[in-house]
Amino acid sequence: MAELVEALVILDNISKEYGSRGKSVRVIDNISLEIGSEFLAILGPSGCGKSTLLRMIAGVEKPSSGRIVYKTHDKGSPSVGFVFQSPNLIPWLTALENVALPLKARGIPAREAEEIARRYLSLVGLQEFENFYPDELSGGMKQRVNIARALSVEPEILLMDEPFSHLDPLTAESLRAELLDIWLSGVSPVKAVVLVTHDVIEAVYMADRIVILTPRPARISKIVSVNLPRPRNRLSPEFGKLVDLVYEYVS
Ligand SMILES: Nc1ncnc2c1ncn2[C@@H]1O[C@H](COP(=O)(O)OP(=O)(O)OP(=O)(O)O)[C@@H](O)[C@H]1O
Ligand SMILES: [Mg+2]
Repeated sequence: MAELVEALVILDNISKEYGSRGKSVRVIDNISLEIGSEFLAILGPSGCGKSTLLRMIAGVEKPSSGRIVYKTHDKGSPSVGFVFQSPNLIPWLTALENVALPLKARGIPAREAEEIARRYLSLVGLQEFENFYPDELSGGMKQRVNIARALSVEPEILLMDEPFSHLDPLTAESLRAELLDIWLSGVSPVKAVVLVTHDVIEAVYMADRIVILTPRPARISKIVSVNLPRPRNRLSPEFGKLVDLVYEYVS
């Protein structure tokens, strides 16, 4: 497991309720968790609150109670990149313009923003496609643009919401390997990856720790450490044992 010496984000007893017209639904129930420099997978049944939890870690939504403390470099304003569950590229912008957009929004001059965008597009293997529009890209390429866009803001924390679930198995597999490469090689400043998934094998393949959530309202049901060296071999007996264990916890 990656050393968990220092927490980057601390979830301190957070809960979330959505309510309208007097009815309220509890989605997240008293979750406490420290996220360090690690690859963390969050696993849970559909509708349990995974995306809600991720949006709160991203700071785009507030918990109803409890608090989230960031220990990132820019204390207070978390430095996060977000890969959304459904691809959301802007159709009338090219791949390069899509990746440069959040940089420009942060006040980086256009030229410099495009230079940075170009670097991250080439990191995900799309240097030849910077002038293509989303419609002209395959599903896997679009998801690469999404990943490049999340990385381009040079976040310390990369949040990914089921980023591989819409892709065919081969594309998903090569993107998983690329993502692990980018993270392990240190070419980006990302220290923590938080990956939401409902795929047990993906979680065991990618993560240092797997946080298993209960059905809604989401509570932490178990945390499993994956102490297998990388690259991991899905056919090894150790791998199979962990997969069985995690399946036991989710079912
Ligand atoms: N903005 C919102 N307003 C009201 N209810 C919401 C809102 N966002 C999410 N919910 C509710 O919260 C619950 C959890 O939703 P969430 O999207 O977090 O689940 P999830 O675990 O990501 O599901 P999936 O695996 O299908 O992506 C659902 O019941 C959903 O209806
Ligand atoms: Mg979701």
